[in-house]
Parts: sequence; structure tokens; C-alpha cells
Amino acid sequence: MNNKTFYIETYGCQMNFADSEVVNSILMNQGMVPVQSAEEADVIFVNTCSIRENAESRVWNRLKEFRALKKNRQELTVGVLGCMAERIREQIIDKEKLVDIVVGPDAYRDIPNLLAEVDDGRKAVNVLLSLEETYADISPVRTSGNGVTAFVSIMRGCDNMCSFCVVPFTRGRERSRPFESILREIDELDQQGYKEVTLLGQNVNSYKHENTDFTTLMDLASSRHPEIRFRFSSPHPKDFPEALLHLIAERPNLCNYIHIPAQSGSSSMLERMRRPYTREQYLELIAKMKKIIPGVSLSTDIIAGFCDETEREHQDTMSLMKFVEYDLAYMFAYSERERTLAHRKYEDNIPEEVKKKRLTEIIQQQMSIQEKNNQKEIGQRHLVLAEGFSKRSDQQLSGRTDTNKMVVFDRENYQKGEYVEVEITGCTSATLIARPIAKSSIGRFYAEPAYA
Ligand code: 5AD
Ligand code: SF4
Repeated sequence: MNNKTFYIETYGCQMNFADSEVVNSILMNQGMVPVQSAEEADVIFVNTCSIRENAESRVWNRLKEFRALKKNRQELTVGVLGCMAERIREQIIDKEKLVDIVVGPDAYRDIPNLLAEVDDGRKAVNVLLSLEETYADISPVRTSGNGVTAFVSIMRGCDNMCSFCVVPFTRGRERSRPFESILREIDELDQQGYKEVTLLGQNVNSYKHENTDFTTLMDLASSRHPEIRFRFSSPHPKDFPEALLHLIAERPNLCNYIHIPAQSGSSSMLERMRRPYTREQYLELIAKMKKIIPGVSLSTDIIAGFCDETEREHQDTMSLMKFVEYDLAYMFAYSERERTLAHRKYEDNIPEEVKKKRLTEIIQQQMSIQEKNNQKEIGQRHLVLAEGFSKRSDQQLSGRTDTNKMVVFDRENYQKGEYVEVEITGCTSATLIARPIAKSSIGRFYAEPAYA
């Protein structure tokens, strides 16, 4: 046992944030105590992301700041967790002497031993990837967050091998967490008062444990907890299950919101990206989603300036986005990653300024689509889950609609964690402004006979 204090700083995707909660649990089981800033901590961990170069640069800069802290505090331990661990362990430990401990995403159980090695004066590394590790038996400890919405990891790794993506190399092979342990974690969240759960995986529709597939898992979770609302991220367009669309349509607590990464609107580009669907197949899927779930809200990921991208291919992405009218999009300039197929086989040959120009065009078009979509919301009623005070004022609450749109409304007597029926009165491209009407619940708002 050791009662040192620790601080984890997390970069990157929601999976990383969920992983940091697993690490919290492992460290607290050892008697270690979480603190809210690096300055107070005996041990600092940085949970890292490799997805794009700028994510890595931010981490490098931060590690240099921590090295400066270490100059005055010899006993301070600094560790790197997550996706950057494998690739840069030598650089970090030997050449730059920035950190004491390096732990890959599948080796978190080993952290107590690694910390003991550091105490004995050695540098400690474990970057082994696993075919089985899902941390199924570890209950994540949510030390930050709002106490209302939570992420639950349902699988790890990715076998898709999109040609631009480093994830299959940093996080290893795909594996699913046993559904019993997922349901147990959601039961615990329910008891703690959480009202929204997002099931996470690099590729959730590949979830499979024994006979339980992703649709069955969503069915089990949502029927067990009718007053918790469920989201998931991210599915892959190549094999999105139609049965899940029907389930979302009929279950009030399965949110009418789907994040469905397109990456590109051009079939030739999708082929180079090793995304096994065409523009037409993607659009067919979108049409099905809109038909089966009327009013469904969609979001996507888009990469601008991937290898050999022609102006025509870029315009195909623009037109796809215009056609789908996403409510939200995560848009990136292509960033070459070592070890990927694109790095080995293609040339990163779109000049930086062209990537930027295309990305700007994509973003501008998306902002105007969002503003138009949001304008249509004015006068509509929504069920909002209040997540906390708005950024601007503690006289206002903010939360999201079932369709994942951020809403701000006057606090009055409403509380964080309550479902509130609101009427939309105004908007920007990113936020809806609303008038609260009454405290409500999923059962009451949707008034489905099964839930009444
Ligand atoms: N460059 C730019 N964006 C990338 N993404 C993944 N790899 C890269 C890369 N090399 C984006 C994809 C993915 C999201 C999580 O990050 O759009 O869906
Ligand atoms: Fe990367 Fe593609 Fe796997 Fe997503 S599906 S993590 S983009 S390889």
C-alpha cells in the first residue's frame, strides 16, 4: 500500500477518458489519493493520444513542463499512459529522460508494480498489448465529470485497419467486454444517480460476447434502466445493424442520435482509405436511418486532404455533407501516422495550405448547415437532461436534447440531473436557447404505453 497522491491528465478520445477512470480505480485500490492538479501530486500521469500529430505535440510540450517541475522536486514521478506509450518509449525514457514510467493501454493493471520499480530507482515500462484485456472486473472511478453522464467502455482495440489510422497499432486487436460486467457497471451508475450512459468502443457494432451482439446489448441495457438514456460511439457504416435502428425508433431511452463517421464522400477516396463502403452505400444507410427513426440527428467524422485527394473528391465530400445535413461534424486535416498503410504505401502529397483550405471550406459549410438545422428547432419541445450550470452563468443550466444538441435555459428551481421539458426559443450554430416548461421524465415525456 502507498498513500501517495496522483493526478491524471487525459488527452484524446472518450475511450482515453474512460481508461483514466480505470487507472483511478487501480491506483485508489493501492491507497493512492487523487488530487486535482499536477502541482499537488506525487505522481503525474499523462494519458496520451496519437491520432494526429498535433495531439502528440501537445503531450510532448506538457511533458517538458513536467520535467521543469521535476527539477525542483526530485521525488516527483512522471508517467506516460496510453496510445503514445509504445511508439515513443525509448525516446521518452532514454533520450529525452522526460519520464520515469511508460504504460501501454493494455498494461494498466501492472502500474502498481511499475511504480514500485520506480521507487527502487529504475525506469519502468510495460507496453505489451493483449488479446483479452478488457478490465471487465474493474469498476471505473469517476473523479471528474458531472455525476449525471458517464461513459462505459464495451470493447477495446480495432481490427478495421483504415489506411490512415494508427489506432489498430496503438490499441491492438479488437475484443469485447463480457456483457454481464457491462450491465453490472450500468447498474452501479444507476444506483449512483447517473442518467445518461454512452457505450464506447472503437467499433461498437462489432461488439460480440458469446451470443450477445451490439443490438442485444443495447436492448438489455435500455430495458433494464428505462429512465437512463443511452448513446453509443462509434459504429462503422460498413455493417450497421438495421435491427438496432428499429430498436432505437421504438425505445424512448435509446437516443435518436447516431454518430456515423463517413471520413469522405468519394468512393475512390474511401477505397484508398480502406473503408469498405461506397458513397452510395453510405447514403443508403443514411436514408434508412432517417426513414426508420424520423427526426434522427446525425453526426460524422471527416478527413480533408488525405493522400492523392483531387478537387473532385473533395467536392464529393462537400456534397455528401450538404446532402446529409449533419447536426454535428468532427472535421480534421489529414495527419500522416507512422506504421499505417498510408504511411507505407501512399504519399502525403496534398500541400498543407490545400489541406487547410479544403478543411476551412468543409467547416464553413457545416457551420451554416448547423445554423439552419438549429433555426428549425425554434418552437419545438425537447426533453433536456440538465448536466450542470451553463459556461456563462450559474443562473442557467445546460444539458442536451435526446438528439444531442446542447441547450441552455434559466435555472429557476431545476436541478442538475433532472429531465426538464423545454421549448426552444433561439439558437446559434452550436447551442439552442430554451424556456423551461416543467420537470419531466423519459416515461412521461414520451408517454409510451410500455413506460407510462
Ligand atoms: N489524420 C486525421 N484524422 C484522423 N482520424 C483518424 N486518423 C487520422 C489521421 N491520421 C480521425 C478520423 C476518426 C477520428 C477519431 O479521427 O476521422 O474517425
Ligand atoms: Fe481507426 Fe478505422 Fe478503427 Fe476507427 S474504425 S479506430 S478510424 S482503424
